[in-house]
Amino acid sequence: MSNYHIKHLEEYFQVYRKSVRNPEEFWEEVAEEHFVWRKKWDSVLDWDFSKPEIKWFDGAQLNITENCIDRHLHIRGNKTAILFEPNDPKEPAEHITYRQLHERVCKFANVLKDNGVEKGDRVVIYLPMIPELAISVLACARVGAIHSVVFAGFSSTALATRINDCDAKMVLTSDGSYRGAKTIDLKGIVDEALAQCPGVKSVLVAKRTGAKIHMEKGRDQWLQPLLDKAYSDYPAEIMDAEDPLFILYTSGSTGRPKGMMHTTAGYMVYTAFTFKNVFQYREEDVYWCTADVGWITGHSYIVYGPLANGATTVMFEGVPSYPDFGRFWEVVQKHKVTQFYTAPTAIRALAKENLEFVDKYDLSSLKVLGTVGEPINEEAWHWYNDHVGEKKCPIVDTWWQTETGGILISPIPFSTPTKPTYATLPMPGVQPALMDENGKEIKGNQVDGRLCIKFPWPSIARTIWGDHQRYKDTYFSAFEGKYFTGDGALRDEVGYYRITGRVDDVIIVSGHNLGTAPIEDAINEHPAVAESAIVGFPHDIKGNALYGYVILKETGESRDRDNLKKEINQMITEHIGPIAKLDKIQFVPGLPKTRSGKIMRRILRKIASKDTSNLGDISTLLNPEVVEKIIEEAL
Ligand code: WT7
Repeated sequence: MSNYHIKHLEEYFQVYRKSVRNPEEFWEEVAEEHFVWRKKWDSVLDWDFSKPEIKWFDGAQLNITENCIDRHLHIRGNKTAILFEPNDPKEPAEHITYRQLHERVCKFANVLKDNGVEKGDRVVIYLPMIPELAISVLACARVGAIHSVVFAGFSSTALATRINDCDAKMVLTSDGSYRGAKTIDLKGIVDEALAQCPGVKSVLVAKRTGAKIHMEKGRDQWLQPLLDKAYSDYPAEIMDAEDPLFILYTSGSTGRPKGMMHTTAGYMVYTAFTFKNVFQYREEDVYWCTADVGWITGHSYIVYGPLANGATTVMFEGVPSYPDFGRFWEVVQKHKVTQFYTAPTAIRALAKENLEFVDKYDLSSLKVLGTVGEPINEEAWHWYNDHVGEKKCPIVDTWWQTETGGILISPIPFSTPTKPTYATLPMPGVQPALMDENGKEIKGNQVDGRLCIKFPWPSIARTIWGDHQRYKDTYFSAFEGKYFTGDGALRDEVGYYRITGRVDDVIIVSGHNLGTAPIEDAINEHPAVAESAIVGFPHDIKGNALYGYVILKETGESRDRDNLKKEINQMITEHIGPIAKLDKIQFVPGLPKTRSGKIMRRILRKIASKDTSNLGDISTLLNPEVVEKIIEEAL
């Protein structure tokens, strides 16, 4: 029996039982057998969720890029590591072999070093889905710098906040990016952001669109000439197991994003292990995850997990609708993709279109389909299963979070019988618990509650950058001794988990995790706005869309409402990005509040989803009369 590659259900249960009975022994075996270490660990796990402090493989030394690149060179040096599929289908795909990846990462590492980047420094990466994005991530890891990738759809304000929060000294970007038929002026956004970031000393710019851009003297340099001159080898920096690998920002319930900090050894072991099992990856496979490297999905399952297994990983620059709605399937056929991993929102969008867009292509190479980011509804599940998988590809509904680093609950294909809308069973080493409102664990099956995890797994985030107290308050204070996920879940009669959605102030829109607070902060900066509250409501394609309740100041009352709506969405686009725009805006005279002043979002959510049948007891509100008004005007 191999701990590392589970092949049938009986084996899953055996491995799972062992992983829970003796987690240290279990993970030690995985780490021993499947990775290269400069020095082995002194202890496998030290943890205390009350502090919270979590250390995996403490005392070990390694560099993750030696595991993702160097060790493959002698056995698969000429195998494609990264398969780049450009936005424009007429532009040829680029096959970057492991050997070429090694050279490009080493050159990039030398450029970083020559430009003042030292071990432990933070480098913000604001790049589109081009090879330089993955290469620069790996180059940072090679020199021991901490990368923080900011999704290149975020606005200049959001970018500046993140740069300043982690105190980055360098930013990597490009002259622009392609997104379907559009080009985006990325460098312009960086310039705007950097006006507020005095700590950034150096900006390296990759060429992609050839757009004419401003280059700030003494700060900005074109990347390619530096790479051309750079030496093609770079001895990897030797890192401690718990040295930070990256910071990735996620939304929280206050305006400030949370810089989730992930460390080296545990993250590597867990993402590699889950990649291998959840996708049943085999040597000759071509694996494609459609996420952006700017999200955790891209970090763990485009870059680190696949490369640690010596896989071929597709990087797709474009969008599912360009040049038409058949693009995903055209790429699957073209590269004979074997595992395909995408988000429910993309599936729903494509399912709306003519079936010909799928049927036209030969999808027989596919073996496993995956989804991530939000609950998948039954209709989308069946469409995916019937038309993409042609009923022969198991669907892995993978539940996890930026904070968890890797997949925690998912079927193992060909082992775990799937069930539509269920993420099914925990990965080895993952111990879920459902909790009731009084903080008691709910045992047994056919129950639902708040989803917690009782025991550390190797890729759990170790802290929020610069704010350990917030880390503790957010994840370890709601339920004593447990990690609280923020999600609700149910466990069915056989013990399968179904994630039912967030139970906090985070809304998942098209698979993007958005906090209500930062959006409200952005709206409230509009001079005509007094106060606002955002809630989610069900949406056919996005899963959830945003509904904003806005109280105007007296000065705003006379303004044209349609113009105001446009301006509000413009504010949001500037502060956060277009993904956070509101689908509906309702101007209201007040917001329902508790006596302690907390907005009753539960009520606003019901109104937004046009379900006013059972609002519960509103008599305890500070201002119950306002609820009637809001309902009247909403209809
Ligand atoms: C939240 C985390 C993990 C990468 C993408 C999102 C929701 C994620 C599922 C799923 C139901 C899911 C949860 C979670 N979520 N996957 N398979 N079924 N819900 O990462 O931005 O950190 O968001 O996404 O609500 O808490 P993220």
